[in-house]
Amino acid sequence: MSRAYYITTPIYYVNDVPHIGHTYTTVVADTLARYHRLCGDDTFFATGNDEHGEKVAQAAEARGVTPQAFVDEVAAEFRSTWETLGFSFDRFIRTTDADHRKNVQNILQQVYDAGEIEFREYDGLYCVGCERFLTDRDLEDGLCKDHERAPEKRSESNYFFKMSAHFDWLVETLNNQPDFIRPERYRNEVLGMLRDQSGLEDLCISRPKERLEWGIELPFDSNYVCYVWFDALINYLTAAGYPDGDGFERHWANVDHLIGKDILKPHGVFWPIMLKVMGAPIYQHLNVHGYWTVEGRKMSKSLGNVVSPLTMRDRYGFESFRYFLLREMVFGLDGNFSESALVARNNGDLANKLGNLVNRALNMTARFCDGQVPSPGTPGASEKSVADAAELARREIDGHLSALEFHRALESLFAFVDRVNQYVDERAPWKLAKDPAARADLETTLYTACEAMRVIGVLLAPFLPEAAAEIRRRLGSTTEARMEDAAWGQLQPGTATTKGDPLFPRFEEPDGAAS
Ligand code: MSP
Repeated sequence: MSRAYYITTPIYYVNDVPHIGHTYTTVVADTLARYHRLCGDDTFFATGNDEHGEKVAQAAEARGVTPQAFVDEVAAEFRSTWETLGFSFDRFIRTTDADHRKNVQNILQQVYDAGEIEFREYDGLYCVGCERFLTDRDLEDGLCKDHERAPEKRSESNYFFKMSAHFDWLVETLNNQPDFIRPERYRNEVLGMLRDQSGLEDLCISRPKERLEWGIELPFDSNYVCYVWFDALINYLTAAGYPDGDGFERHWANVDHLIGKDILKPHGVFWPIMLKVMGAPIYQHLNVHGYWTVEGRKMSKSLGNVVSPLTMRDRYGFESFRYFLLREMVFGLDGNFSESALVARNNGDLANKLGNLVNRALNMTARFCDGQVPSPGTPGASEKSVADAAELARREIDGHLSALEFHRALESLFAFVDRVNQYVDERAPWKLAKDPAARADLETTLYTACEAMRVIGVLLAPFLPEAAAEIRRRLGSTTEARMEDAAWGQLQPGTATTKGDPLFPRFEEPDGAAS
């Protein structure tokens, strides 16, 4: 029976265009979704946009349009970019969607009725960048640490979610479920926040309409709208069909959230407590990744070094960029993007190793076997070792993906590509072809090379779906890959193969890049 699996990305603010940071999280989510589908799991993948709040209202005002017109435009751009890049999401959720607004209001009412929300007077320092009141911990030299700007002094009456009453429960949950937040450093970070509670208090969940109208109205007080984070987190429930949509319970029972480290507090503290209070099961895992720097520097609009996935696609092909993101970053740690490193990975792994294997296996099959997969003779020790290496790669990829080690999963896959290239070098089919007495050996060798390529076309599918499909197409298969297809020995002799263009072009080192 297939297992259910639900993977989410954060919903992206609409005051920015898609960049490498958003793309990385979405690539990781897409890879996991595709891997689970490959394994036959009943998979649901959600991504989308976070559209309310002060920042969005300000961005719309600066453009001279209504917030709704503004979010419609940017959300359409996000969605079409994600579609262009081939992400396989099942729902693109927007926090302005009617089902989401309804869920947020129902949940607010429920939490209010349960006595978990209280009306209070509040004085504090507010950062518009963070969309919240800051505490001492958030400040450095009087400036917000994240946004490096001075917060505003504000005094307001507001509604508060009595979150602090649940901190002990959260500590206990984190202690009982070691992989609840992973990698471990982020679990420790949340435990640290909870231990010295200086950075944590009850959560202000309302904004007076006189200051901000762009949000979901509180169902119990029409003078207020809901705080953007309380609204945004609920997207994960709405996207999967909360409260009674088809498949909701199944998917929610196996939800994996993916986020960047900057939004650990809302996901690691607010969200589990919100779920507990509303009586919903707590998520399975919060998976936290690090930050991309660009050529060694922080990425920012003012530095003009924002990396756009569409620009990278135009320059190198999206799968080359996608490969780089998955191969280069150790999930959980920071990573550095540079075009010269991308070119090196593309040329070294994709063009020289994988592209070359595909190219020579198919060229020799065309030349020596009329383009048809030959019949294998009795496998010898080297054929068996290639078959064993295929099985090892399959098992290692599974283990590494369960541990979110995407770079190691690709290392295992490329160790198999190396093994097959080495096998072809050792067997030297171009030499066997010259000796009529070696015909059976030639056929066994080319069968083994094509079969290895077929298995690669299955195992590669979650990481580089287009290249993988192209490999399978060249070996006569146009169906979706399934994990069962990775078992050795399924390629039918006599299958017609197609040579095709190089799978990955080689690129020159970019101008000005260090060699
Ligand atoms: N809207 C909130 C999320 C709400 S989820 C209920 C938000 N949006 S965001 O657009 O600012 O950021 C979305 C994600 O992009 C975050 O996970 C963030 O970590 C990630 N990244 C933004 N810049 C990044 C890098 N330079 N590197 C890696 N990821 C980064 O926060």
